[in-house]
Amino acid sequence: MNKKTNDENQHRRPLFEVLNQHRKKEKVSFHVPGHKNGVNWDEQLTSFHTMLSFDQTEVSELDYLHEPVGALKESQDLLGELYGSKKSYYLINGSTVGNLAMIMGSTTKGDQVFVDRSCHQSVIHALELAELRPIFLTPELTELDETPLGITLARLEEAFENYPSVTALIVTYPTYDGMVYPLEELIAYARKRKCFVLVDEAHGPHFTLGEPFPVSALDLGADVVVQSAHKMLPSLTQTAYLHLGHQVSSLIKHKIEHYLHVFQSSSPSYPLMLSLEYARYFLACFNENDLNATLAYRDLWKIQFEKAGLKSFQSSDPLKVRVSWGNHSGEVLAAQLEKQGIFSEKADHFTVLLTFPLLKQTTEVREPFCIQLPEHLEIKEIENEETNFSIASYTELDLSYQSQNSSRMKRILLADAEGQIAAQNITPYPPGIPLVLKGERITIEQIRQLNHFVKQSMRVVGLGNKMELTVFSEND
Ligand SMILES: Cc1ncc(COP(=O)(O)O)c(C=O)c1O
Repeated sequence: MNKKTNDENQHRRPLFEVLNQHRKKEKVSFHVPGHKNGVNWDEQLTSFHTMLSFDQTEVSELDYLHEPVGALKESQDLLGELYGSKKSYYLINGSTVGNLAMIMGSTTKGDQVFVDRSCHQSVIHALELAELRPIFLTPELTELDETPLGITLARLEEAFENYPSVTALIVTYPTYDGMVYPLEELIAYARKRKCFVLVDEAHGPHFTLGEPFPVSALDLGADVVVQSAHKMLPSLTQTAYLHLGHQVSSLIKHKIEHYLHVFQSSSPSYPLMLSLEYARYFLACFNENDLNATLAYRDLWKIQFEKAGLKSFQSSDPLKVRVSWGNHSGEVLAAQLEKQGIFSEKADHFTVLLTFPLLKQTTEVREPFCIQLPEHLEIKEIENEETNFSIASYTELDLSYQSQNSSRMKRILLADAEGQIAAQNITPYPPGIPLVLKGERITIEQIRQLNHFVKQSMRVVGLGNKMELTVFSEND
């Protein structure tokens, strides 16, 4: 386990202490928020009242997120200490804002950057806002369910041969499904090429716990790392962390802080920040017994899956398990599980992804129960037909972000899209890798593939029922 866990200093919660004292004071509020400690609140939601007493604004003793000097600074410093960063930040608009600030703060307009094509949309939005020149690297796919599995060193080396002046590598680690790949090799190679490494570690804020969790991107030497605390730790939705590696210059640090200021609210929610502090404290107090309780709970569920005739597949992250049910699709299995009150993280054509919680030894949880699946459900066979999902190893945009900004758009049918430049992304699931990216010229092969996916009833995000899409109107 991380050597910082169970460090006495890490048991402190400075933000909680100052907020708790403040809320108990006899006081009259002549400041925002408008609920004034809950006085005019919804009578049907009285259970919110305690939470509302923590929902304060940045009055002097409660510090200021964008320039912290008191409790918030102390609280964020403890976070940095736990993760071993140069500096760590609380984010109140998810990894979405973290990716925007990380990318905009670490690059300069017009820079060429390598980007994992299976990245989250916030990464693509950042590339666009920063007016970068991305080279999208196509990731490997898992054998199990054809979901993305990161960039290989061979692909990165090959790409560097063709684009020697790239300044940053942007990757997703772990994948949404909790799989890891040799990021250390990529970082070492990128370093040799004087290239910055930016990691969207949205699904790995708990990796800092150490074994049996995979090694965290920060420990592998990444320069900047963004994590969705809310995805895997006990913190509120929208909360995330951004960490800087020790090698990051003060200039980049300053630029990232500037963009956090630009993109984050000037009225950050104290309940959100309180939960970020709690998540750090929770990790710091997490011990071997808690780990054993966490893994034992997961294993009891795996036994129930097996009894119900499901096959389970363990991801690299011990908290993520995929299950499949014979020849039924993941979507069919997810619907059956929901009928029994089991709600999954996501389902695709092959598997259902389940995300398990970190548990304290003393946490009371619902005992795993017997799963009843119908014996005679008509099998909508998973089509074995070759999906032929093919994208070149790396691709560039045909219309730069700068030119996109001054181009008009129009809606057309997919059938008429050959040779047009897409003004939106189109992403089939699985694998969840955009087949067409905003700014790419659409080929007849891509149109054939998209028609094929739709015929197979696969989810194709970006193509409505009318099979229409938005393109740039180059000649109008
Ligand atoms: C890989 C990845 N990065 C970033 C995000 C955005 O995270 P958030 O919801 O915390 O803004 C997500 C959300 O699903 C994600 O899967």
